[in-house]
Amino acid sequence: MDFSIKTIDTKNTLDSAKTGCIAVGVYENRQLTPAAQALDQKGAISAAMKSGDISGKAGSTLLLRALEGVSAARVLLVGLGPDETVSDKNFTLAAQATARAFATLGAGDALIALPLDAVKDRDIARTIRCATLAVRENAYRCDSQKSKPEAAQGGVKKIAFVIDAAAATEAKQALAQSLALANGIDLTKHLGNLSANVCTPTYLANTAKKLAKDYKFGIEVLDHKQLQALKMGSFLSVTNGSEEPPKFIVLKHMGGKAKDAPTVLVGKGITFDTGGISLKPGLGMDEMKYDMCGAASVLGTFRAIGEMNLKLNVIGIIPTCENMPSGRATKPGDIVTSMSGQTIEVLNTDAEGRLVLCDALTYAERFKPAAVVDIATLTGACITALGHHNSGLFTRHDAAHDTLANELLAAGRATGDTAWRMPIEDSYQEQLKSNFADIANIGGSAGGSITAACFLERFTRQYTWAHLDIAGTAWKSGAIKGATGRPVSLLTAFLINRAQ
Ligand code: BES
Ligand code: MN
Ligand code: ZN
Repeated sequence: MDFSIKTIDTKNTLDSAKTGCIAVGVYENRQLTPAAQALDQKGAISAAMKSGDISGKAGSTLLLRALEGVSAARVLLVGLGPDETVSDKNFTLAAQATARAFATLGAGDALIALPLDAVKDRDIARTIRCATLAVRENAYRCDSQKSKPEAAQGGVKKIAFVIDAAAATEAKQALAQSLALANGIDLTKHLGNLSANVCTPTYLANTAKKLAKDYKFGIEVLDHKQLQALKMGSFLSVTNGSEEPPKFIVLKHMGGKAKDAPTVLVGKGITFDTGGISLKPGLGMDEMKYDMCGAASVLGTFRAIGEMNLKLNVIGIIPTCENMPSGRATKPGDIVTSMSGQTIEVLNTDAEGRLVLCDALTYAERFKPAAVVDIATLTGACITALGHHNSGLFTRHDAAHDTLANELLAAGRATGDTAWRMPIEDSYQEQLKSNFADIANIGGSAGGSITAACFLERFTRQYTWAHLDIAGTAWKSGAIKGATGRPVSLLTAFLINRAQ
């Protein structure tokens, strides 16, 4: 797929553009967007509206061919909703419908002349991102582990956004950023969807090394022996039952000033979560290959900011291993010592995410971070609380943390990759009391996503920190099973805002 920006002026008009197809917007009130008007030379578009062949409802489409006075072979009418005040949601529906229609056209190239500058509360950068991601999402195929790639679809391979000359510079920059983001999202989906016998901790480490080479990131991959030397007894207790060696990946993108404190992303990288000795039930266990989606979102975000050459210091930390049962596996009741010195009673070996994250969060202290954000498929309870629409966002409640929480919430809203804030309070911390160690790794079934966040909170008191529980948002189940690439859009927007 090839994207570009095409500027329109009095000499280069839309009706004279030679292309396979031009997508233009229409409204339910039968009004045409300026671009549709420009192609309505002989009234064919107005007539189509009048006939009722297209309603104008957001996401409805109608393909017209060989319009008189129009050089393009086809015109795709795309519904934008009731009237000229296009909502973000309706624009997204229109962009998705355009992407689907383009994918099955008998044309190789096309123009998108939707009203990119006329969406309510959205600038061109956002509409271009929305449309680019819609096309890339529609084009995404997960067939790398099939014996033959899925039959290549025909359809449009070259897309240009039609922009007024005055906005060309802004549009070009927005497109470049959108493509970098789409590439990051694709990587995150790819890693999530790969089977766990291929996507091992070693595979994630090799992926990180390849990224480091491509984008000149600093990289360190620590092995079992080095983790022992660091006294990461909590992380290592999770890997005990597995034959696959654990890895601790540290990526550094130092795009900012050398002395600026970095923003640190920490991603949970359990490449398969059987539950360990607290074994999970069999039904749907295959989906626990997605338990490394936090790690994958960190790698995808690095792919994006690397390509953008973002002017910010960002460090990615990925503790990655398998959670397996065996004769050597950690047992319920075992007590382990974390890198922070706090002892942990492992009452349930299936609450392993917090055990790997707590040591990574302690490790993060050495970077004297401006902020730390961890991303984890941490709890089924978060799905119960928020469903599949919002990631759970947890921070302490004070001025510095409210600011960080608001940055993340705003980045989510701006990209449609939303999060919802949840509480952290001392009253929940009490649920983590242990009779035998400093802290237990589970806090009972009430407020499970909150007690998990409270566990992590105890390891983050040296810096400003937020936790994103992506258990409900990182992948979809059922017939449409597959990784979503969330929350790469949120994280990337958050970092872009920090760089400004
Ligand atoms: N990776 C799971 C959380 C999860 C489960 C995410 C289902 C998405 C779908 C995590 O390691 C886990 O097993 N958590 C337990 C915690 C419990 C033992 C306190 C859970 O949610 O059941
Ligand atoms: Mn688990
Ligand atoms: Zn897990």
